[in-house]
Amino acid sequence: MARISLTGIKPTGSPHIGNYFGMYKQAIALSESYLGLYFVADFHALTTTPDPKDLQRDIYEVAAAWLALGLDPDKSIFFLQSDVPEIPECSWILACSTAKGLLNRAHAYKAAIDKNLEIDRDPDYGVNAGLYNYPVLMAADILLYNSDIVPVGADQRQHVEIARDIAETFNRTYGKIIKVPEAYIPEAVQTIPGIDGRKMSKSYNNIIPIFASEKETRKQIMRIVTDSKTPEEPKDPENCNVFQIFRFFAPEARVEEVRQQYLQGGLGYGTLKQELFEHLLNHFADARQKFNALMDDKAQLDAILKQGAEKVRAIAIPNLKRMRKAVGIDK
Ligand code: TRP
Repeated sequence: MARISLTGIKPTGSPHIGNYFGMYKQAIALSESYLGLYFVADFHALTTTPDPKDLQRDIYEVAAAWLALGLDPDKSIFFLQSDVPEIPECSWILACSTAKGLLNRAHAYKAAIDKNLEIDRDPDYGVNAGLYNYPVLMAADILLYNSDIVPVGADQRQHVEIARDIAETFNRTYGKIIKVPEAYIPEAVQTIPGIDGRKMSKSYNNIIPIFASEKETRKQIMRIVTDSKTPEEPKDPENCNVFQIFRFFAPEARVEEVRQQYLQGGLGYGTLKQELFEHLLNHFADARQKFNALMDDKAQLDAILKQGAEKVRAIAIPNLKRMRKAVGIDK
C-alpha cells in the first residue's frame, strides 16, 4: 500500500503567499510519491470560537485554495475534518493515553498561561478545554489513518512530536497498533518574509494574499516596508523586503539583473514593487481563475469534499476498529 502523507490547514482567513511556499506547495509535491491525505481542519478552528458565518466562508476559501493551487482530488484524498465522525472518537481514546503533563507543556497552551501570569491573572483565564486538548485532536488526525509523514511548518513540529509520544504510549499499553509518524519540515529557504520583514502571518497583519482582488493585492505590495533610499542610491538586496519577496516570483535571470541594479543604484523601490505585482499576478493567474470559479460553485466544492470523506473513512473505519478492539470496547 502507498505510504501516506497527511496534513491539515486551519480555516482562518484567506491563504497568503507564505502559506503557499511554506505548506501547500510542499504538500502538493509530495502527493506525487505518497498517497496524500489533505484536509481542512475545521474542528481545530473552533478553539478560538470564530463567528460562524466567517468560519463557513473560511472553510470554503481554504478548500478552494487547495484545489486551485494544484491538489488533484482524484489522486489525493481531500476532505473536511468534521466530515469524519471517527475523529472525535479516536481523539477520546487517544486522550486516555496522553499524559496531562504533556499537554501542559504544549506551546500554545503555555503561551496563554504565561500571558495571564504576566499580568497577575488566573493562569487559565480565557483558556477553553478545546485549546488545551488541541494536540490530542491533532494526534487523532495524524494517527487514525496510520500516516507516514506529516508535512508542516516548523511551528507545528511540537504537535507532531506530541502525536508520536501518544502513539508510543498507546502501543506500549496495547501492543503495536498505531504507526509512529515522522514530521516533514521543509528547508528554511522556503521562508518568505512578510511585508514588514517578520515571518508572514495573519496575526502580524503583514501578509500578501493569493486570491484577493488585484486592487487589494497591489495595495499590500505597495505597503512593503523599505528604507528611504532614493532610486539613484545603491541598495542592499539581502536586507530588502521587496527584493526578498521578488526573488520568489521573477525568473532567475531577472532576479540576478535586479540584484546588480540594487548594488549599483538606479532602481527605485516603487518601480520594483510594481514589477513584483505583475509577476505575482502572472504566477497565480491560473490559480486565481480556478479559485474564483470554485467559489462561485460551492455545490462542486461540497461534492468534492463529500467524496473525499467517503474515501478517507474507508481507511479510518478499520483502523479505529483495531484501536477499539485493542482497548477492549469492541469484540
Ligand atoms: N494545527 C495545524 C495548524 O495550525 C492544523 C492541523 C490540524 C494539522 N490537524 C493537523 C496539521 C494534522 C498537520 C496534521 O496549521
